[in-house]
Parts: sequence; C-alpha cells; structure tokens
Amino acid sequence: MRFSLIAVCLLFTIYSFAQNPKPAIVPEPVSIIEKQGVYSLTENSSIYIAAGNNELGRIAAYLQKSINTSTGFNIKTSTATSTNGIILSLNATADNELGNEGYTLNVTSDNITVSANAPAGLFYAVQTLLQLLPKEIESRSAVKNINWTIPAVEIKDYPRFGWRGLMFDVSRHFFTKAEVKQFIDEMARYKFNLLHMHLTDDQGWRIEIKSYPKLTSVGAWNVKKTGTFNYFSNPLPDEPRNYGGFYTQDDLKEIVQYAKDQFINILPEVDVPGHSLAAIASYPELSCTPGADKYKVNSGEKFMVWPPKGHFYGLVDNTLCPANEKVYEFLDKVFTEVAQIFPFEYIHMGGDETARNFWEKSPQIKALMQREKLKNLDEVQSYFVKRVEKIVNAKGKKLIGWDEILQGGLAPNAAVMSWRGIEGGIAAAKEKHEVVMSPSTHVYLDYMQGDASIEPPVYASLRLSKAYQFEPVPDGVDPQFIKGGQGNLWTEQVYNMRHLQYMIWPRAFAVSEAVWSPKEKRNWDDFAGRVEKQFERFDLADKKYSPAIYDPIVTAKKDAQNLPVITMATEIKGLDIYYSFDNSFPDKYYPKYTAPVTMPKDAVTMKIITYRNGKPIGRMITISAADLKKRAGIK
Ligand code: ACM
Repeated sequence: MRFSLIAVCLLFTIYSFAQNPKPAIVPEPVSIIEKQGVYSLTENSSIYIAAGNNELGRIAAYLQKSINTSTGFNIKTSTATSTNGIILSLNATADNELGNEGYTLNVTSDNITVSANAPAGLFYAVQTLLQLLPKEIESRSAVKNINWTIPAVEIKDYPRFGWRGLMFDVSRHFFTKAEVKQFIDEMARYKFNLLHMHLTDDQGWRIEIKSYPKLTSVGAWNVKKTGTFNYFSNPLPDEPRNYGGFYTQDDLKEIVQYAKDQFINILPEVDVPGHSLAAIASYPELSCTPGADKYKVNSGEKFMVWPPKGHFYGLVDNTLCPANEKVYEFLDKVFTEVAQIFPFEYIHMGGDETARNFWEKSPQIKALMQREKLKNLDEVQSYFVKRVEKIVNAKGKKLIGWDEILQGGLAPNAAVMSWRGIEGGIAAAKEKHEVVMSPSTHVYLDYMQGDASIEPPVYASLRLSKAYQFEPVPDGVDPQFIKGGQGNLWTEQVYNMRHLQYMIWPRAFAVSEAVWSPKEKRNWDDFAGRVEKQFERFDLADKKYSPAIYDPIVTAKKDAQNLPVITMATEIKGLDIYYSFDNSFPDKYYPKYTAPVTMPKDAVTMKIITYRNGKPIGRMITISAADLKKRAGIK
C-alpha cells in the first residue's frame, strides 16, 4: 500500500516534470495538440529545404538568422534530404484546408517538420516556431546556458481572413525608410500581411511624384514643434520649414520588396479631397479657394474645428477642388506613378473628413452642381470619388476609401474601409461591396490605452480588453464581403519609434488574433496570459510596449453629498489595488480596494497602484480631485 502510494507520487512527479509549458502563441493557432517530449536545438541542428526554390531559401535564412543571433550557434541550411533537424517543405499535393497561408508544424524529439502549400505558410510556421522556443530566442545577442528546447506539438494553422493589416501614418510625423522596415519586421512576427501606408495628409506629402516635384520640395516640410499636437503655436513666417521628409520612388520600391519578402503587401493611401493641405501648399491652384500665400503645410497648429455635436469645418481650405479639371489631371498623374510603385491590387484614396465649408461658398462648385445636376455637397463628394475611381481603375487598380466615400452614393466598384464604427462596412457589404473593418471603437491604435491621467493625451481611449472584442464580421452581414480588418496607427502624437511601439503593442496582438484566429477560440483570460508571455519576449528584444493592462480602470459616480464615489477594476485577474487620498505614495500597506470608496471632501489627489503576489506591477497613478469630480459628473 505504502509502496504503491510512493510509486504513484513518483509517477506523478515524473509526469509533471515531463509536462511542457503550455505553448503561448499569438495569434492563437487553429489547433495545437501538445505531446510528450521536446526537440533540443543544438549547434548540430540544421535546417533542410528542397533545392532550387529561392523563397524557401529566404525563409530558411530568416529562421537561421533568428536562431543563430540569440543562441550563438552556427546552424546551417542544407538542401540534402534528412529526417533530423528542421525540415521546411512545400506540399506536393495541396492540403485545401491550409490555403495559401496555412501550415502544419510537427515537433518531435527527432525533428521539426513544417509543411505548407505555399511559401507564406512556411514563413508563418517559422513565426510560430520562434514563439515555441524559449523567450531568450528574442535576444539580440547570444545567450549562454539555455536549453534551447521546443515542446513536442502538432499544430495546424491557417488565417481566418486574407486582409490582416496595420495602418501606419507616416504623414503626421515622418518615419524613415529604416523605421518603416522595422515596423514591417515587427508586424510580420504576428502574421500580419498588409501594411497600409498613409502617405499624404495636411502635415506632409511623403511620396516622390516626378510630375509634381513641389509635392515633396514644399509639401514634405513643416516647422518642428514639441508639446501637444493640435495645440501648437502658429509658426512664424521666418521659422525654418525643415522638419519632415519623404520617400523617393526608389525608397518605396525597396520598401515594397522588403515587405514582400516577409509576405506583406503595401496599400498606398493618397488622402483626397480632404486632408490635402500639403498638396495645396505645394500647388495652390488645386484648391477652390483663391489665396496662394495662405497655404502652408500644417505644423500641428489648429486649423480645423470639431464642435462636439456639430459639423466640423476648416479654418483654411485643405481640400482639393472637385470642380477643377486640373485636379483630375493631377490625380491622373499621381495615381499613374503610385500604381507603378506599388504592385498591390488596391489604391486607397482616403476620402475621410472632408471639410466642405469652403465648397459651400465656391462659385466653381455651384457651377459644377448645376452642370452635373448634383443636389447637395454629398453628391459633389460622390462625383469626385466616382471620377477618382475611374482614374484608379484605368491604372489597373481597384479603389478603396474610408467610409465617407459612401456619402452621396458609392462608386460602382469601390471597397470601403469602415472606421466610424462598423456601420459603413455593414452598409457597403449590403450593397455587395468589399469591406475592410477598422472601427475606431476597437482598433484605433493611436487612442490612449490606460487611465487618461497618465497616458499621452489624444482623442479617446481604447483598452486592450476592448480591442480584443474586435469582430470583423457583424451579425447579419454576408462574410464573403468582409475581406478582413486592420488596426490604424495615426501619428499626430507619435514622434518616435519607441512611442510608436508603445502605442501598437499589445493592442496589435488583439488585432492579429481577430483577423487570424478562429472566432470560437476567443478567450480573454487565456489571451491576457499569452500577452504577458509576449511582454517577456519584448523585454528581451528591447521592444517597448504599453503596460496599461496592469493599471486600474477608475470610474466615479456622485453621491448624495455631491462627492465622487470611486469604483476601481482591473482588466486582468489577480491584481490588488492600493490607494491614498493624502498625497502620499500608496504601497501594499495602504488601504486595499475592495468596494467603491467615497473621496474625502478635502482630498486633492487620489494615488493608486496595483500589486500582484505582493509585488508592485502597475504604474503609480495620480488623479486630481477635480478630475474625479469630472468623471462623477460633478460641476
Ligand atoms: C480617419 O480616422 N479619419 C480615417
């Protein structure tokens, strides 16, 4: 009896030692079967590929470099046949379930076999494999004394959507070619396949157009300001306009190829007819409103007004003139050159947030409305969009635009990118148009991630847990029209790559999962755990991310005495919240939050910090009494 008990205990112990840590892959694969045992990667492991396939060679080189950098090994790639090592191969007969981007990945103690119908699938399998390796694989220099083991698993995986995007606004702030490449490297790790480059806006025109050189000699430059965008002082006439930059056509071709090598397409956006101040500052004749000397590339000073419930309007006309034939000549030349640089099948024309208050007053617009029998400014806008579609189609490309292109009637073949919620996407899909979902409610990566009292200020907030609820296919919509989704990073308030990383991660994990993983595998708690594992990897890779998931969610209501009653919650489980009202820094010996607390009448600040297992984990947050009163609706 005693012996058998000991034997059971022993077996149990051996069993639990033999258990591998649970794989923590982002985005979650379609299916993972965990097995006993591990594959040990050593100096003697090799990567095996079939001879004569350049793409396989490139994928193998990518894997080899990733491994050799952090392990310090000198693993080689071979075209010999082997049953040991990491074997990357294309299926002789296609496995239909996998499609063009799916893969199978089998790890045993003898070997790692990866197969796919097409190279993209192998590339994604490599991403999964890297996430199965110990986190130190992310290090940028060799790490010693690590057992480079990979748990035995059988993974079958393929994406839910073919359009898995991130938008990068390189206009509001310019990012260099090297930084764009870094962005591409980082998105590839999470199986994104589309980079939408927002190339033009009021603050800068970033793409060389040979037939209109002033777009970049004038339009790419503004005055450097530091502080909070939209609130900058007006530039003085003699301040140097030397802040910004642009990509030459050769730069962009290089970026396109660089992205393609990581199975990422690039969607170029030229945002018209609104958001066009940089173009108009370069060529004022493109505007309906005379006054060439008025137009300057915006440097972040206020030039548009956004009344809380009313229509926004421009203080300066930042729109191209739909009634001016020169505008269509301009766009014809611009899109000719754009189409030659970017092989992707779509061109994005923007189309969002067109301030039309100057159109209202324009005799040219009035004449256009009469001639074309356009009843209102929505129809003027739609007239413009339809003409742009003809131009874009004539270059052999399909047109996509923000959901405002629905106003006044959608162009016949246009695809819609739904950003003002999902309604535009629903309307377009009902009209049998293609749709990409990127609602600001769930995937605007420029929004604040944690408490507004400590985040760099911007228009709105979006927590990771809300981003994780992103569902690209709304109820009642035919999924065949939903091409996929994307997260959008606007960069008004993003001045450098470190902050860019902070804004993107971890929310882009949520986006990647929404567009790659099966809907039925969604599970917030499980996801949050995997996100934390990614954080460990980011720490080793020196990549920045937002730790806002550790910060409390602070809301307030007013009580009968007109004092704020404060409720605190956390996005993830297992955190303790400590707080103070006496201006001192709370720690775990301070009051622990268990139920809503009333702010003492004379309090000036509330300070809050979260702990996990007795250790501080969140950031120290200070919220003023005035802010708490505002949250509670106390005047
Ligand atoms: C947008 O956010 N204006 C598309």
